[in-house]
Amino acid sequence: MKTIIEPFRIKMVEPLKMTTKKERDVFLEESGNNLFSIRAENVLIDLLTDSGTGAMSSEQWAGIMRGDESYAGAKSFYRLKDTVQSITGMEYVLPTHQGRASERILFSIIGGEGKVIPNNCHFDTTRANIESTKAKALDLVIDEGYDPKSTFAFKGNMDLNKLEKCFQEYGAENIPIVMITITNNSGGGQPVSLQNIKDVKEICKKYNKPLFLDACRFAENAMFIKQREKGCENLTVTEITRKIFDLSDGATFSAKKDAIVNIGGLLLLRDDDLYEDAKNNLILTEGFPTYGGLAGRDLEAMAQGLLEVLDENYLKYRLRYIEYMGDKLLKAGIQIVQPTGGHALYIDAKSFYPNISSENFPGQVLACELYRHAGIRTCEIGSVMFNYAGDYKGMELVRLAIPRRVYTQSHMDYVIEAIIEVFKNRDYAKGMKIVKEPKALRHFSCTFDYI
Ligand code: F0G
Repeated sequence: MKTIIEPFRIKMVEPLKMTTKKERDVFLEESGNNLFSIRAENVLIDLLTDSGTGAMSSEQWAGIMRGDESYAGAKSFYRLKDTVQSITGMEYVLPTHQGRASERILFSIIGGEGKVIPNNCHFDTTRANIESTKAKALDLVIDEGYDPKSTFAFKGNMDLNKLEKCFQEYGAENIPIVMITITNNSGGGQPVSLQNIKDVKEICKKYNKPLFLDACRFAENAMFIKQREKGCENLTVTEITRKIFDLSDGATFSAKKDAIVNIGGLLLLRDDDLYEDAKNNLILTEGFPTYGGLAGRDLEAMAQGLLEVLDENYLKYRLRYIEYMGDKLLKAGIQIVQPTGGHALYIDAKSFYPNISSENFPGQVLACELYRHAGIRTCEIGSVMFNYAGDYKGMELVRLAIPRRVYTQSHMDYVIEAIIEVFKNRDYAKGMKIVKEPKALRHFSCTFDYI
């Protein structure tokens, strides 16, 4: 059988509200053309993020009922800890309310002025948490990672030469850890190969530095390794996952992705001293170390989700679903980031709107047009998000992030149709300028006007 079906059936539904184009014109105007400011009920298909938007399984909901709400030492914490340790082999497991809390705790301990943190690509919250300690966040992904047309299988890989150069230029004494983000969200949801992680680990060993993972989408990355990396085809995703974690000394993790929960995160560590510091820091803002800003029921749901995400039928379906969308768009002449990533499809807005320069935010224009035309909410990842003005040379992407187990194939057929229609009318699109912007993370709240 060629058709890959959703490997689940639907037990509970949530109706979608239909809106007219005229209504959406008004909503856009009221939001200052910023889709983060639109009420979710006025969105038909919400592809803003895959984070915390997944559908939990019946077993996860059962876990919600079983949650032990004891302040200290809850049964739910031990279930989570045992599950995480059996998957990752990490010594210390600290729950946090979400990924960025783990990042804040980690970087407030190891960051600071003069420090440099290399990564393949830092996600925006990771970068912001590093920079808020006055440390420097460096992106060292391979050059293919910046080329939407390159079909290289592991475009998330760290460039080993760039990493070596970074050690030469900044000095090992100023580099507390090396980080790898799996999959590379900012670069198109692209995977990192097991070989690349091994090679980075060798460099870390040479300089005696720990290797940390930003492991949000570890299971999707492991499935890509199984499908694409020579010598890994006969390993299970669980085995590949363990190999990845065995190479690392710690991890920040947003459970809102590959633990398929609506809230939660983890900070995983092996080092005793770092654990003591992190635990004390966590108590200041997150809570006692056996619940870390979450309810006992959240810990149960996270433990269950971590087991479910390793189901290879689920992962195969998930990666194929996004590839299916990508194939249809490429066929219509729309450039996407190739090959398709693990959690999202990225449209190259620069080639979609060749007449709109980075200064006038082609990605933001496309995101607004998709909402206006069809009620689809997406996210700009380009000159708006990365806060660059006229000299921006990076990619201009629009991300269609796919919530886990939420939308069916016919929802996606509708999305594909809408994108193709907007593409046919691309000559009428106008660029934008920013009217008002905050000091940091401007994409969440700035307002735009058409020029
Ligand atoms: N690292 C990566 C690679 C991420 O994609 C995210 C979140 C985080 C860290 C932070 O985790 O949201 O739980 O605090 N990404 C979401 C997204 C927001 O839409 O890509 P968080």
